[in-house]
Amino acid sequence: MTMPSYYEFFAGGGMVRAGLGQGWRCLFANDFDHKKGRVYRENWKGDELKTADIGSLETSDLPGTANLAWASFPCQDLSLAGGGAGLKGDRSGTFWPFWNLMKGQVKENRAPRLIVLENVCGTLTSHDGKDFATICEVFQQAGYAVGAVVVDAALAIGLVDAGELTKVLERLARRCGRPLRSRRCHWRGPLRPRGPEEA
Ligand SMILES: C[S@@+](CC[C@H](N)C(=O)[O-])C[C@H]1O[C@@H](n2cnc3c(N)ncnc32)[C@H](O)[C@@H]1O
Repeated sequence: MTMPSYYEFFAGGGMVRAGLGQGWRCLFANDFDHKKGRVYRENWKGDELKTADIGSLETSDLPGTANLAWASFPCQDLSLAGGGAGLKGDRSGTFWPFWNLMKGQVKENRAPRLIVLENVCGTLTSHDGKDFATICEVFQQAGYAVGAVVVDAALAIGLVDAGELTKVLERLARRCGRPLRSRRCHWRGPLRPRGPEEA
């Protein structure tokens, strides 16, 4: 079986790469912070990381077709502790240039099968759920099934240690299948995707 591949957006020091482990191949990583870029390169070697503002990237920067695009986009405007700007904020609004890249890849017929947005729980409740509803809407317009998974941080540490993250992703991908229109995920167990109506 070919090793699944991924893009790592808002990569920081590469903790997603650490969580995915040796069974996944990183095709591309991005963060605009030069200090973090140095840490990333120190951690992972290789030349996958492009240090640049996500708004300056184009689909031509993204090699091939990745199985997974992971975006740990900034949380400040979605967090309960933040000012409440939501997806219109300067920081959490970086979702939009990321999303433009995904839409570009859909057009080029090389969309990632699975897109993971990693953020705080406030993503589900920001502006009374309207921000999350917007995210769901744009995903569905692009042909993706969409849902949310709330992960307890203590459990997440266990997941990474046990290499369970890959299993969670495989299970999510099976549930969602190829990008589908308006299909919701249903889930039983501790990590439960939620549809926009539950946000
Ligand atoms: C929540 S942190 C992600 C942490 C990361 N997963 C890690 O393992 O360290 C968000 C990251 O987004 C980066 N970032 C913020 N705005 C950005 C932008 N406009 N373009 C690219 N990266 C950006 C920050 O430097 C930060 O590393």
